[in-house]
Amino acid sequence: MEKKKLYPENSNGKNKINRRIFLTSIGNTATGIVLLGSFGVTLEYLSPNVLLEIPKIFKVGPVNSIQPNSIIYEPEQRTFVIRDEQGYFYALSAVCTHLGCTTKWNDSGAAGNPNAVISCPCHGSLFNKRGEVIQGPAIRALDKYRIQLEEDKLVINTAEKVSEDEMILKV
Ligand code: FES
Repeated sequence: MEKKKLYPENSNGKNKINRRIFLTSIGNTATGIVLLGSFGVTLEYLSPNVLLEIPKIFKVGPVNSIQPNSIIYEPEQRTFVIRDEQGYFYALSAVCTHLGCTTKWNDSGAAGNPNAVISCPCHGSLFNKRGEVIQGPAIRALDKYRIQLEEDKLVINTAEKVSEDEMILKV
């Protein structure tokens, strides 16, 4: 039985692609691309939109490894964890209370003020190391978070804001 040829041959025995075959191939290719594209879009539509939430509670430590008069910045939670000169711990939000920019800690101070250790790059607010406003436009102090000791680690809960009276952890 003679095998049916995909393309007709021309007079010198070579495959001949006529206009119909050429246009059919182009059409089939275009249809394939469209189907693949729509399949991709459908898959994306059916997959759940996952919103990865940053953990509100995190640990730092061990406490013995944190020297007095030092700070640890946690970029994910935008939080400063501070051990002061007396060895006490507290945690401050690094989120500026003006419009929410991330503030920066600078031990040598900012704008010629050695007490202005926390500064906001957006509109120039300045805060002291307890998070109190030194210079606006921010009018409210930085948020203070609950900090507790669990075994030898500090546990900071950014979902729990505390007053100035409750912010210090004496270890
Ligand atoms: S957001 Fe910090 S000063 Fe405006």
